[in-house]
Amino acid sequence: MSKITITNHPLIQHKLTILRDKNTASKEFRALISEIAMLMCYEATRDLELRDVEIETPIAKTTAKKLSGKKLAIVPILRAGLGMVDGMTALIPSARVGHIGLYRDPDSLQPVEYYCKLPHDIGERDVIVVDPMCATGGSAIDAIAKIKERGPRNIKFMCTIAAPEGLKALSSAHPDVDIYCAALDECLNDHGYIVPGLGDAGDRIFGTK
Ligand code: PRP
Ligand code: URA
Repeated sequence: MSKITITNHPLIQHKLTILRDKNTASKEFRALISEIAMLMCYEATRDLELRDVEIETPIAKTTAKKLSGKKLAIVPILRAGLGMVDGMTALIPSARVGHIGLYRDPDSLQPVEYYCKLPHDIGERDVIVVDPMCATGGSAIDAIAKIKERGPRNIKFMCTIAAPEGLKALSSAHPDVDIYCAALDECLNDHGYIVPGLGDAGDRIFGTK
């Protein structure tokens, strides 16, 4: 089964509380989702490999660590995943960014794909798929299946809020994918929204409602 990490650092919990508040406007919402993504990225990249390098400080020669140059790709699920990209590329500027466009049909709750553009060398990369919400898990499951067709070395999934239903579905569909989420909420409502959640992440980021 997938390894599931709840990244519930106090700074993340504080920012998430403001994010959830229905009175938080889009400008602040965008800033917060990006900051939370940056903090979560710190945890999701904890296993990056390092190599020894020889350097000289103003005082002495020493052996120090640098990233081994492992190639990464970040793949946001459109639209809402876009809100997480800047925070992550601030930490990993060399990461390539792919895009997968999916929307959830409001009646069937099934994901419908409308766009896919991935780095040409994704087969040589470790991929982090990002989306603020994992509700039924359908969007994440389909996005990851699409990326797997291109044979990346490894895939992780990072979301801000997950429902238990979504985590269960995702980890049984893709047991090889490690999952990072900032909060595991109570359940889904009759419309497939996470309770208590934060509402429609895309609408809140882009101010479309
Ligand atoms: C939201 C969210 C996820 C999906 C989660 O996107 O950003 O992609 O729903 O639901 P699921 O786990 O049940 O699939 P939405 O379909 O509303 O599209 P949008 O980002 O374009 O608004
Ligand atoms: N998509 C959202 O944006 N929010 C939810 O609660 C569920 C799916």
